[in-house]
Amino acid sequence: MDRFRYQNGELYCEDVPAAQIAARAGTPVYVYSAATLRHHYRAIAEAFAPLNPLLCFAVKSLDNTHILRLLAEAGSGFDVVSGGEIARALRAGTDPAKIVYSGVAKTDREIREAVSVGIKMFNVESEAEFENLSRLGGEAGRPVRASLRINPDVYDPRTHVKTATGRKESKFGVDIDRAEVFFQTYGRDANVALDALDLHIGSPIYSAEPYVRAIDRTLALIESLRAKGFAIRTLDLGGGFAADYEEGRSPLAADYAGQIVPMLKDSGLEIILEPGRQIACNAGVLLTRVQYVKQGGSKKFLIVDAAMTDLIRPALYDSEHFVWPAKLPAGAEPPPRRISHAAEGGVPVDVVGGVCESSDFLAKGRTLPPMERGDLLTVFSAGAYGFVMSSQYNSRPRAAEVLVEGDAWRVIRRRETYDDLFAAECDV
Ligand code: LLP
Repeated sequence: MDRFRYQNGELYCEDVPAAQIAARAGTPVYVYSAATLRHHYRAIAEAFAPLNPLLCFAVKSLDNTHILRLLAEAGSGFDVVSGGEIARALRAGTDPAKIVYSGVAKTDREIREAVSVGIKMFNVESEAEFENLSRLGGEAGRPVRASLRINPDVYDPRTHVKTATGRKESKFGVDIDRAEVFFQTYGRDANVALDALDLHIGSPIYSAEPYVRAIDRTLALIESLRAKGFAIRTLDLGGGFAADYEEGRSPLAADYAGQIVPMLKDSGLEIILEPGRQIACNAGVLLTRVQYVKQGGSKKFLIVDAAMTDLIRPALYDSEHFVWPAKLPAGAEPPPRRISHAAEGGVPVDVVGGVCESSDFLAKGRTLPPMERGDLLTVFSAGAYGFVMSSQYNSRPRAAEVLVEGDAWRVIRRRETYDDLFAAECDV
């Protein structure tokens, strides 16, 4: 479900025409739907309600402070991976006791900051990191809690190699076979309470089955650790629930929960989930205007004002986002969101940006309705890992971000200016 729909041939976000936002806020612009964010958050919370989990939204997927505030008000905690993300979560008004901190390279400064604000838990990813955390926790003289991130060595064959993380040969976490020795070495540390496990097997994971295998292995480990006298109170399952880049292609929260909940209902464990994409992906679109239409050999190009600097997923992972004009040709039906959907009378086009790289494309070989200079194109399912991965490469100011609630909308991040491009350079 999302709240981007065509009405009378025009795309709306909730009750606001996309064209109105583009006209006033300019393009490229990210547009988010508040109702969709809340709906997806609630769907996960309700599906997993029998486990009474703490949902920690993965800040990395969509980190605008206004969005974090909206989710915090809905009850969300946050999964963070840097001091910057902690700062954002706090600025959004989060209770620090709802922050879990993952990441393989936490610096001393970041650890000190997290200890001093009193986050819920450090998801520790190596022996060396645990030793450092213990040292810094001891210095601070404050209670510190940690979970060990394990790699259960499962993966989903449909997950892109660049976003699969739960395997043995991964920089993340420690191999599940090393977990018992880890607890024997550090499980009774004076400065850090190590009483939890966490995992994140990849993103997106297109079925519940890899989670089932991972949980199965993890529960066996927990039983063995408990038998050796280590209290395991919390299990953090990480993120990875898929989102519909094409209509009806991904499992719903309830589908994952249907298999996961029975496995954990009587475990006595506090459960944490770190969803990002399933909440944010279809809550955002990227609106861009056609600059030029051009023929290159046998190929037709739609050259638009957004580029890989605004949305890098196609260039980086060959990700496919559904793209379609924000205004339909007279009499045309709203399209099904299928990558292969072809407009009658259209010809295949590549949608490309203005960056000087041949990997700068947003979509390839799509049969769209005819489009002209000035027309507005919508890149759907762009809310997660969209704006957050943007850059200023080619000295392109970053796009604006807009949040829609019903018939109201506001800019929640202004478009960057040329001054922003050199704001951090010294003496210019
Ligand atoms: N927890 C941890 C420890 C993670 O590393 C991630 C994502 C998440 C939670 C959230 O996963 P999600 O629910 O959003 O799938 N840039 C890539 C995705 C990278 C994901 C990194 N980790 C993309 O655009 O597909």
